Amino acid sequence: MSLIEKLSWRYATKKFDANKKIPADKLEQLLATVRLAPSSLGLQHYKIVVVENPDVREKLKAAAYGQPQITDASQVIVFAAETNLDETYVNKYVDEVAKVRQVTHESLEGYKSMMLGSVNGQTAEQKLAWAHKQAYIALGVLVSAAADLGIDICPMEGFSAPQFDEILGLKEKGLTASVIATIGYRSTEDVTATFAKVRKPSEELFIHV
Ligand SMILES: Cc1cc2nc3c(=O)[nH]c(=O)nc-3n(C[C@H](O)[C@H](O)[C@H](O)COP(=O)(O)O)c2cc1C
Repeated sequence: MSLIEKLSWRYATKKFDANKKIPADKLEQLLATVRLAPSSLGLQHYKIVVVENPDVREKLKAAAYGQPQITDASQVIVFAAETNLDETYVNKYVDEVAKVRQVTHESLEGYKSMMLGSVNGQTAEQKLAWAHKQAYIALGVLVSAAADLGIDICPMEGFSAPQFDEILGLKEKGLTASVIATIGYRSTEDVTATFAKVRKPSEELFIHV
């Protein structure tokens, strides 16, 4: 299947087959793909929590307006934005760049000052909004990667972020929930799987200049 065929096959799964788990190697492949999502300045200022524990998922379901995907899916993926984007965070990233690319810290001085300028020039609120945007990019990559691997997914905003933070202990980790996704395999009873895709016509969506 081509990518366009795979994205036509996928849909926001409303009913997962609760007995079907994603095999470990496929899950690993899916997560390895989302790890490659791009982010502004490469900072990846979010974390991705993979929730499998049934008891935790029961609590999350209550905090997601009872949406059944939370407990029926194979896993719940929580994208959580970093709330403490500061100089220490940037320094750690610069250390990683120096290590991976085997370059000196001196050669990264200009890059580092540019990043610090960008980080220090924003209010805490702006930085958090920025982090949430990065999390959504990762969500987009996850949606496409899942389709590529024949895994069903439902991206979800219908949940209480403060309650998710509380249940998963995210605040203590300097994180707050941005957006979530449930992953697994569609139930044969999910009639919404057959619904035609509703998308804006190309002439309405695209503006060519
Ligand atoms: C950011 C985001 C949040 C969403 N939140 C929910 C949700 O909480 N529950 C749900 O069932 N579907 C949710 N959806 C699914 C959308 O309703 C769905 O993607 C859209 O209607 C297009 O349909 P399709 O994905 O099946 O092609 C969400 C989708 C996105 C991208």
